[in-house]
Amino acid sequence: MSTSSPQIPNAKVAVIGGTGMNQWPGLAIIESVVVETPYGAPSAPLVKGRIAGVEAIFLARHGEGHKIPPHAINYRANLWALKAAGVQNVIAIAAVGSIAEWFAPGDVTVPDDVIDYSWGREHSYSDGSIGSELKHVEFEHPYAPVLRKSLLDAAQAAAVAAHDGGTMAVTQGPRLESPAEIRRLKQDGCAMVGMTGMPEAGLAAELGLAYACLAVSVNWAPGIGSGDIHGQIELWVATSMAKVRAILERALPVLAS
Ligand code: HPA
Repeated sequence: MSTSSPQIPNAKVAVIGGTGMNQWPGLAIIESVVVETPYGAPSAPLVKGRIAGVEAIFLARHGEGHKIPPHAINYRANLWALKAAGVQNVIAIAAVGSIAEWFAPGDVTVPDDVIDYSWGREHSYSDGSIGSELKHVEFEHPYAPVLRKSLLDAAQAAAVAAHDGGTMAVTQGPRLESPAEIRRLKQDGCAMVGMTGMPEAGLAAELGLAYACLAVSVNWAPGIGSGDIHGQIELWVATSMAKVRAILERALPVLAS
């Protein structure tokens, strides 16, 4: 679906799609543009499309064909490209494992905090390179409160039950966690675990982008539930992404106006 053009598309809202949302059925594609940034190439072309009557940019976090593992994603290029496209609001879709009892597979939440357990990723634009500035960016609200509220309002308008909050643990992947690792995350207060939430949220903060996440649980984290984790992931990815699309179809017209 990629056609090359030097012109970066322009839109106010972007959706970064993850596992289960690598493509967006129903998105009427206007253009698909391969973009270069000072940090290299984003995961995929920026796809500008129309959904629910408004224009938005869609970026497949794991690349076309879902091939890029969480630790190898060029998060800096992804966020930089969205900023260059004039985006102000970034909605990140994340398929996660459930740690907290209140957040069962199939549930949706809009997390309100994050702990980064990942390592070795290019996680900042303040990298000491020539011309880069040293910025100690504030991260008291890793997920923009106004954007979070828009997502929660959109869920309500779409009659999709969504939890409000929860701390996201971000692990390195691509392997899943051991039960002891999950016990530690639980003790740390994490309600869910994914592999891509950081450095994405931190880089968005550095660029001054409003960033929020729609997290969908697709399994009980290892050691919490019983049964085949991959079977759970397959089932819940297939059945839950319709909820995400319903929320986005209500949120985008508000955010793009
Ligand atoms: N752990 C980490 N990342 C995940 C999981 C999990 O259990 N499920 C979906 N993404």
